[in-house]
Amino acid sequence: MKISRRTMLSRSFYMLIGSFFIPMNTTFATGRTKHLSKGLNLIHKVLSRPLDIGISHLDKCLSYKEVDMENHDGFKDYIGSLAMVFNGHHHGEDEILFPTFEKKIKDVDFSKLKKQHEELHPLIEQIKIRVDIDSPSIEDYQEIQSLLKETKALWIKHRDEEEQIVELDMEPILSTKEQIELSDRLSKHGQSMSEPANLILPFLIYNLEGSDRDEFTNDMPWILKKFVVPIIWKSKWEKMKPFLLA
Ligand SMILES: [Fe+2]
Ligand SMILES: [Fe+2]
Repeated sequence: MKISRRTMLSRSFYMLIGSFFIPMNTTFATGRTKHLSKGLNLIHKVLSRPLDIGISHLDKCLSYKEVDMENHDGFKDYIGSLAMVFNGHHHGEDEILFPTFEKKIKDVDFSKLKKQHEELHPLIEQIKIRVDIDSPSIEDYQEIQSLLKETKALWIKHRDEEEQIVELDMEPILSTKEQIELSDRLSKHGQSMSEPANLILPFLIYNLEGSDRDEFTNDMPWILKKFVVPIIWKSKWEKMKPFLLA
């Protein structure tokens, strides 16, 4: 069967989106012990950086008592992408990752992690709504910053606890076959939660740097990471550039 270049690109993109949870490239090359936590750490880094960037951007605006209208559209896209990736990531954990281990481990208790998700999501929703206005006031920026700070405090606690549980309790009990199946399901789930690609993919890639970015994009076709994202899609995402590591 002949597969078009467009289909291949779109498949590659969706495989990468699936790596919200587990990077496909490192999953099986490194054996069965560390890939789950490695993938989790990478996407957690993607989620952590924008909270810091958002807080420091607003710090600067608040110190001058001026709304940065020049970069507000980019800020809206950046924080909107953060909310989308946050939602997709946690939804995948709630619907797929945690239930997988609940079936496998008797008496496993994810209630604390799930409760933390429930606490985080109303905050993320409020941030998304408050940033999505065309002419924000300095009071809006103050409110967004306070929500970002509250989110960050909860997120760091959740992130650190979750990474420890995954690395110590969950990852060691999965066989390679189970890891493949889990990756597949998370990958398909990621596809349905990641629109528009021309914002989400640059958001994912350019919030990582160095070896983290290399690892995250390792399986991407050259044409996607060196041509489609940075050149063809640039006009779509370049407003976010002041906030990215592009
Ligand atoms: Fe997570
Ligand atoms: Fe989580």
